[in-house]
Amino acid sequence: MSPSVSPLRNALIAQILGGILAVGLVRIAYPQGLGSPLAIAGLQGVCAALIGHWLGSPKWWLVIHCGFVPAVVLASRLELAPGWYLAIFILLLLIYWRTDQSRVPLYLSNTTTAASLLQLLPAEPCRVIDLGCGPGGLLRRLAQARSDCEFLGIEHAPLPWLWARLTSLGQANLQIVYGDFWQQHLGPFAVVYAFLSPHPMPRLMAKARLEMRPGTLLVSNSFAIPAAPVEHVVEVADRRATRLYCYRM
Ligand SMILES: C[S@@+](CC[C@H](N)C(=O)[O-])C[C@H]1O[C@@H](n2cnc3c(N)ncnc32)[C@H](O)[C@@H]1O
Repeated sequence: MSPSVSPLRNALIAQILGGILAVGLVRIAYPQGLGSPLAIAGLQGVCAALIGHWLGSPKWWLVIHCGFVPAVVLASRLELAPGWYLAIFILLLLIYWRTDQSRVPLYLSNTTTAASLLQLLPAEPCRVIDLGCGPGGLLRRLAQARSDCEFLGIEHAPLPWLWARLTSLGQANLQIVYGDFWQQHLGPFAVVYAFLSPHPMPRLMAKARLEMRPGTLLVSNSFAIPAAPVEHVVEVADRRATRLYCYRM
């Protein structure tokens, strides 16, 4: 899928065409009607996944396509009050915010990764930023371990930001701000940490090259930056075999 194509637009097209195709197939094969809404929903899911595949959607979208309408049919059998769906939607929105635009969902750096990142910080006092700090757990660990350094986390998803902000109160060397990290100048920082997704990495490298000082370090958890020479890769000894890609400016 081309990076400029919205995944939501493709998802909508796949779901609608999948529905039309499924209804058409049922009409042809079973003129009397298929009977079970769940069976039709399952067929719609398969059709939507095939269309999603044809549109070039990543594999994990195909799983969502297969299960989406069947899940709606099953959920409708629970007879929950409509308010619950709205509440769950708002909760997910507050946690994941505009993932459709940023293409960066929330997942967290673990404690082993935090320990490895700690080893990468310069010995002298410095400033460190986590671009998209989520609920701030990584920065809290670093800030507690290095009271001589200043840590900044920026987050645009309201609920993780609020959690990070509240749990950082009392940690003098840790600041959490609400906002878009693309608006933050990277000049003041000796280490810039990013745990994002493949999508923003080329843009991030362009920003880092413009703004970061020579000798400073950009660390990307899990996502290598295409066509950028990596200084070294830290293999973290955790279950998911995390890799920290280190780029020296
Ligand atoms: C994969 S999580 C990493 C969380 C944290 N850095 C960690 O390592 O545990 C990425 C976070 O970046 C946030 N994010 C994505 N784009 C952003 C942007 N443009 N400005 C601020 N935060 C952003 C997401 O909301 C998400 O919480």
